[in-house]
Amino acid sequence: MPTSADPPAPRAWWKEAVVYQIYPISFFDSNGDGFGDLNGILAKLDYLKDLGVDVLWLSPIYRSPLADMGYDIADYRGIDPRYGTLEDWDRLIAAVHERGMKLMMDLVVNHTSDEHEWFIQSRSDKDPSRNPKRDWYIWRPPKYDAQGNRQPPNNWKSVFQGSAWDYDEKTGEYYLHLYVTKQPDLNWENSAVRDAVFEMMEWWVDRGCDGFRMDVINIISKVDGLPEAPIVDPEEKYQPASAFFANGPRVHQYIREMNDRVLSRHDLITVGETPFTQNAQDLLPYVLPSRRELNMVFQFELMSIDSYIDPYGTDVPLIPRDWKLKDLKDVITRWQTFERDAGFWNAVFIENHDHSRSVSRFGNDTPEWRSLSAKLLALLEVTQSGTLYVYQGQEIGTKNAPPTWPLEEYKDVATLNFWNSVLERRRRESPGSDPDMSDVMDGIRRKARDHARMPMQWNDSSHAGFTSGTPWMRINDDYPEWNVAAQVASETSVWNFWKRAIEMRKRYAVLIYGDFTLLSSEHEQVFAYTRALGKSTALVLLNFHHAPVQFSLSEVAHLVGAAFVLGNYPDSDLEAATSTVTLRGYEGHLYIA
Ligand code: GLC
Ligand code: CA
Repeated sequence: MPTSADPPAPRAWWKEAVVYQIYPISFFDSNGDGFGDLNGILAKLDYLKDLGVDVLWLSPIYRSPLADMGYDIADYRGIDPRYGTLEDWDRLIAAVHERGMKLMMDLVVNHTSDEHEWFIQSRSDKDPSRNPKRDWYIWRPPKYDAQGNRQPPNNWKSVFQGSAWDYDEKTGEYYLHLYVTKQPDLNWENSAVRDAVFEMMEWWVDRGCDGFRMDVINIISKVDGLPEAPIVDPEEKYQPASAFFANGPRVHQYIREMNDRVLSRHDLITVGETPFTQNAQDLLPYVLPSRRELNMVFQFELMSIDSYIDPYGTDVPLIPRDWKLKDLKDVITRWQTFERDAGFWNAVFIENHDHSRSVSRFGNDTPEWRSLSAKLLALLEVTQSGTLYVYQGQEIGTKNAPPTWPLEEYKDVATLNFWNSVLERRRRESPGSDPDMSDVMDGIRRKARDHARMPMQWNDSSHAGFTSGTPWMRINDDYPEWNVAAQVASETSVWNFWKRAIEMRKRYAVLIYGDFTLLSSEHEQVFAYTRALGKSTALVLLNFHHAPVQFSLSEVAHLVGAAFVLGNYPDSDLEAATSTVTLRGYEGHLYIA
């Protein structure tokens, strides 16, 4: 129910902002060591400003052994030497602010690296009276089975590999790691941990940081007693356990405390990453203004529509599932209309560093349709209500790595661990055989996180202009013809379309704030909707197929005559909306009345 505390969609700068996510290691290398770096970002600020970007979000740049590409932090107040120094960061933030832009840091506080000094101290001694850091992580004694073999404290499976527990010889206990063993989970029950996190956040804000993207923030509170997970896969020793750690019992208390002590004292942009959530209602409290927690969350329903769902309801990203346009419409409509009167605000995104490329997933990356379908997806993004996020490379329609690339080119720990776990299971099930892994390779080619992590394609010179040295990861083969320089120079490129689309979004507030209404919900080829704000209405028609189609405006006859403002075909003829609109393959139109 709307209350006076939650007026529908009051304006805010962070709602209108276009956020651009940078994956620093692959953005731009300024010194030829093969790793992108902070000075590389500094060198490209004008490029981003020109595109229309308002806020940069940097994936982690803190000191890290890169067991999970920096989402394993060894020092929250230090920059990894690969990326530069704190002085480089200070120069970067000054240059960002000079251009009227802002910068968000990635806040990864569900876990640290096992190389963080907190964890080194924590594991050094079991006795909390001598070691105040012992209780900063989640330690439990072993269990023993009927044969007397040592076992982990419970049967939880980690998100990326085997048991969620690792045994520490020195103190004879296990520590919890919901991700890889090198990512021990912090114990948020301990108020000293919370104090340390909040102080660290304050330290970054004092230095100039304008906000935070909060990594897996909905898993910081685990169910009391860490109970056994139900056995859904009897063939496996460890079972999916997100029901015991996602949106747990005290998560809102902790985030509210973070808000009281840090966020509310500054004018920040905040977005929580909230995976493992099947029920939309569970995300409401994080976002409702009256709760005073976060500005918005990244929910993953759209990112799951092409993933196999295991019997426990969690999606397995590397096993693809077929999807229909109807599924996409349902998901987008649900979130566009979700609790708007109560003040729920969306984060609109279709790519990030954890997912394959949108043109390969949701568009059509064949030469004939790649550019058009990438622009169609841009139109889909800029015409949704919420804060808009663009992921590096998305602005030029970067696609997945070629299917010919062998497994050796894939670097992500999640990809490799998944491959190994399936291989091990197949060998166990039919000993002595050489298992067929082609289905797994197919899943990796379509869905691996690696596709988003290849270096940026800046120009057609060697290594795509990303580095003068040897890139840390192979660059997509198509860079000679598909790169930023070529696209900035071409009027009809995906890049120039994005730039225009962002301009339109900034010109028409209805695109940011307007109410969403789905049209022709059963149409199998066209995704059509309106957005309405006061006297202004936007009409969006998107043909998600290569075949042409006629679309009737009979449902919205009053919009016949609406002005055509943006289309993804180079020869779009600026004709006002007619009672029947013809859309060519992957054609999209935006009209405003
Ligand atoms: C988030 C990050 C992902 C990382 C995981 C563990 O999902 O986006 O890249 O692997 O958290 O930190
Ligand atoms: Ca470098």
